[in-house]
Amino acid sequence: MTFTPASRLRRLRRTPALRALVREDRLSTDDLIWPVFVCDGEGITQEVASMPGVIRRSVDLTVEAAAEAHAAGIRVICLFPYTDPSLKTDLCEEAWNPENLSNRAIRAIKAEVPDIAVMTDVALDPYNAQGHDGIVRDGVIVNDESVAALVKMALAQAEAGADILGPSDMMDGRIAAMREAFEGAGYIDTTIMSYAAKYASAFYGPFRDAVGASGALKGDKKTYQLDPFNAEEGLRCVARDLDEGADMVMVKPGMPYLDLCHRVKETFGVPTYAYQVSGEYAMIRAAAGNGWIDGEKAMMESLMAFRRAGCDGVLTYFAPEAAALIRAGWE
Ligand code: PBG
Repeated sequence: MTFTPASRLRRLRRTPALRALVREDRLSTDDLIWPVFVCDGEGITQEVASMPGVIRRSVDLTVEAAAEAHAAGIRVICLFPYTDPSLKTDLCEEAWNPENLSNRAIRAIKAEVPDIAVMTDVALDPYNAQGHDGIVRDGVIVNDESVAALVKMALAQAEAGADILGPSDMMDGRIAAMREAFEGAGYIDTTIMSYAAKYASAFYGPFRDAVGASGALKGDKKTYQLDPFNAEEGLRCVARDLDEGADMVMVKPGMPYLDLCHRVKETFGVPTYAYQVSGEYAMIRAAAGNGWIDGEKAMMESLMAFRRAGCDGVLTYFAPEAAALIRAGWE
């Protein structure tokens, strides 16, 4: 009995040459944003137990790492400070100290590696004795007072020379307030990548260790971060942030939220990024470390998935490794 398939789609998968010819997308080092953890001191590195391969670096070594990343083709580096617990207060004043760790790191990088874009996180959690992204009063994360503090924090970062500000706090009205303050202060070219569709996720666990926020956090972040069931609400947040003046938007976490990445790009057609967060990184590393998956292939496949879903780029702790593979002609 003869069997004739209606079409033979495997024809185009037969050889590497044919597969390369029909490949729909490519990964480029231009797509990578590298999140780094900064600590105090000089010549210091500290391992992050829950993120094997990720370290905190003092400012001098962060500058060196930025130079190496830039030489490897990475164009954006995103700073996260590990703040000394003694500097954490209920009103988070350290957040807008022009000399805080993050602002010192921005200045040092811009002085030595001016061509790499420096991105920051705008949220109060590294400076908050309560561990939350906003100010807490009687157990409530108060919106408008938090926004006022976030604006002060953002202005200090713009003043230090940050190229991209990433408000990750999920307070209402923060983008409009920052935009207005920037216009008033003359920072008309400071760009905002809003963490617009940011979910209350279990996948941030290792990050909170990395920035030393796990101990301080009381309760959860569900009154401001999105419910993982809700996609429509995520789209509304994106629409609102764009309306208020965001230049770029982010979906976070990444892999469990590829549907959002796709819908954001389809709906708004704006520069869209995913954050492959600490827990996603840790899962791939842990499985690879146990020999259960091929870490390199899983890493690259995860990055391709963001492109396929419609993202223009991805924040990933894998950035240096991925950049090295891309430059070596990885297929
Ligand atoms: C802080 C912030 C978080 C992350 C980025 N900025 C943690 C949180 O919201 O609790 C998580 C990043 C990661 O897990 O890699 N606002």
